[in-house]
Amino acid sequence: MMTMSGKTSEPLTDVKSLSTGSDSISARVIVCNGCCCGNTSKGHSEVPIKYLEEKWEKNDISKQVELDISDCLGPCAWHNVAVLETEGQQIWLGDLSQPSHYEAIADWAKKSAYQTMVEIPSILKSNIFDPDGQD
Ligand code: FES
Repeated sequence: MMTMSGKTSEPLTDVKSLSTGSDSISARVIVCNGCCCGNTSKGHSEVPIKYLEEKWEKNDISKQVELDISDCLGPCAWHNVAVLETEGQQIWLGDLSQPSHYEAIADWAKKSAYQTMVEIPSILKSNIFDPDGQD
C-alpha cells in the first residue's frame, strides 16, 4: 500500500498495532481510493482527498494521526472504504457516500491526536463492517 508520502506501508492484514516507526503517531486513518472506492465512472462517490489533507493540515495533526490514501484494500463491495486504526484496534468503515461521513472521520482523527479510545462518531456506526465477513 502506498502512503501519501510515497512510502510503502505494511499490508493491512498484518497490522496488529501501529508500527509506523514514530513514537508520536497515535492513530492512523486509511482511506481507500482504489479501483472502486471513489471511482465515479462506476457510480461511486468521489473520495474527498483534498478536503482530508486540508483538515489534517489545518488541525496540525499529521504527527499524531497518519493519513494514508490507499489503493484497493480488498472489500470493494463496501465502496467507499476507510479504516480507523488505533493501538490494538481496527475499525473498518464502508459505504462512505456522504461528505458528512468524511467530516466525521476528520473529527475522529482530530480527537484521536490527543486522546485514546475515541468513540466512533454516531453517524459512522452503521458503516462499520467486518472485513472477514462475520458481521
Ligand atoms: S477499491 Fe476500495 S476496497 Fe477495493
